[in-house]
Formats: sequence, C-alpha cells, structure tokens
Amino acid sequence: PSEKGWLVSQMYQFKGFWQTQALLQGILKCQKHFEAKDSDIILVTNPKSGTTWLKALLFALINRHKFPVSSSSSGDHPLLVTNPHLLVPFLEGVYYESPDFNFSELPSPRLMNTHISYLSLPESVKSSSCKIVYCCRNPKDMFVSLWHFGKKLAPEETADYPIEKAVKAFCEGKFIAGPFWDHVLEYWYASRENPNKVLFVTYEDLKKQTGKEITRIAEFLGCGSIGEEEVKDIVRLCSFEHLSKLEVNKEGTLPNGIETKAFFRKGEIGGWRDTLSESLAEEIDRTIDEKFRGSGLELSC
Ligand code: A3P
Repeated sequence: PSEKGWLVSQMYQFKGFWQTQALLQGILKCQKHFEAKDSDIILVTNPKSGTTWLKALLFALINRHKFPVSSSSSGDHPLLVTNPHLLVPFLEGVYYESPDFNFSELPSPRLMNTHISYLSLPESVKSSSCKIVYCCRNPKDMFVSLWHFGKKLAPEETADYPIEKAVKAFCEGKFIAGPFWDHVLEYWYASRENPNKVLFVTYEDLKKQTGKEITRIAEFLGCGSIGEEEVKDIVRLCSFEHLSKLEVNKEGTLPNGIETKAFFRKGEIGGWRDTLSESLAEEIDRTIDEKFRGSGLELSC
C-alpha cells in the first residue's frame, strides 16, 4: 500500500497499477467472474478522461435504432432522463458495490466501461471478439480534472494537500489507475497490433471533430451506415452544453454517493492553465515526453 494519498486514504499496487482498495476488490472479482461476449463493447479510460461523454456517445450510437436520436427533442431518449453512468455499468465498480448485478441481463450489444489496464483485463475480454474503445486525454487536463473532482468529493481530506505534492505523485505514477503512461501505452500498442480489436481515440480529437470521430467509432464497431444528420443529432445530444444542463445530470447522486453534477465541470481542452503553474505543467510535460518517447504517440496540448 501507498502512504496516505490526497484523493483517497490509501492505494494499493496491483500488477503495476495503483488502485483504491474498493476498486482493487472489484477488479479481482471482475477478472474472476466476468465472461465477455463477442458482441460486447468495452469503453476503457483513465479516470477523468471523458468517460461520461463516451458513455453517452456510445450509448446513443449503438441504440440509435431502438432510441432514435432525433426524437430526443420530444423527450423520450434515455439520455434525457438518465445519467450516462446509470446507462453504462462500470465493471469493477459494479463487482465491488453490487455483487448480485447480472451482466447477462444487459441488452445486446452490451456496453460497459472500465479503468482496468490492458494486461489486467479479464481473459475473456482479450480472447473473445469483443471490441474495446480506449479514450485518452491530455495528462495535464486529466490531472486537473481529477484534482478538482477530488476536492469536491473529499474537501476535508484534500484541504491541506498541496498541488505540488499531487503533481509529484502523478509524475511518480502513484496516481489512481496510474501510472498514467503505462495505462495509455498498453492500449496504444494494443491498438497498433490489433486495430480491429482496440480503437484508440483522444478527448481532444473528439472535441475538435466530434462528428468525424463518431463516424470512425461507428465504422470500428460495425454499426452499419450512419447518416450525416444522425451524426449531428448524436453530437448535439451528447454535447457538454446539452448534457450538463439536463436536470438528471444536475441533481441527485449515483448509487456510490457521487453527485451526478461532479462529472460535468468545464469540458474543455487546455483548462489546466487555470490550475497548474508553468513549472508544474513543465514537470508533467517532461515526465510524459520521456515516457512516451519512441512510442509514436503524441498528445496534443
Ligand atoms: P473537466 O473536469 O476538465 O471539465 P470522466 O467522465 O472520465 O469522469 O471525465 C470528466 C471530464 O469530462 C470533466 O472534465 C467533464 O467536465 C468532462 N465532460 C463530461 N461530459 C462531457 C461532454 N459531454 N463533453 C465534453 N466533456 C465532458
């Protein structure tokens, strides 16, 4: 176990990655019990890298025949009345919090998400033909997003914790689901080796060209042809501006006690500038440059 951290009281290292005790228990159960199906779609992210957004986009995309997105204006689309986290189960979270949850009852294709590293995924995820969509975000924005999330979730525990210490921990890899770079690179290489299995997308590309990225994701998932108007409707339905204003995402809490509004803060690229000093930003940049060197992966911003 690590010494006391800032977001959580203690973290545990498992197969190279740091987890809270709760998530680690969930991961171990997931590895043991989860049976992937060929038709499954698994969204993988580092925390605070766009999970909520991708959950909404993927849900809207794969269910567009069952729940036409254009009808969203008439108020009957599930995303208008249900928080994305309740529509798409979080594997290790469910295994920890709701051991009786029956994954086989999810409608096909099943859509789920996880933060588990590639090498620690349940064996059936790798051996089946299920698809993995991995979303990576610029580490400075991801760090800052998690920093504010932690402050909201645990104001007392984080009050006296300096950001310099948090950046140091991040750069040492001792961060929830970290090391960040190992998480990203495992999926990056998997996507290079097996592009039909793993699709690598970035938060920044999604922001800059949402429609184009949705079309790329749809092709990867074999979703069939999707019209330009339909893509535009999905972009609009799942946009930060739209989702963050919905009552269901402004009020209430998830079963794990986290307020739904905590998942919608700024939704921007480069927002780290408000929070990180130049020298802290440089510390992260130096670390990431060194870790990504030679990988062929370059993250914008
Ligand atoms: P910020 O804290 O930078 O605003 P996750 O869903 O993985 O927990 O990530 C949360 C981050 O994604 C937050 O970033 C949040 O504001 C942003 N986000 C949530 N919904 C979004 C959306 N529809 N479009 C863009 N960003 C979104």
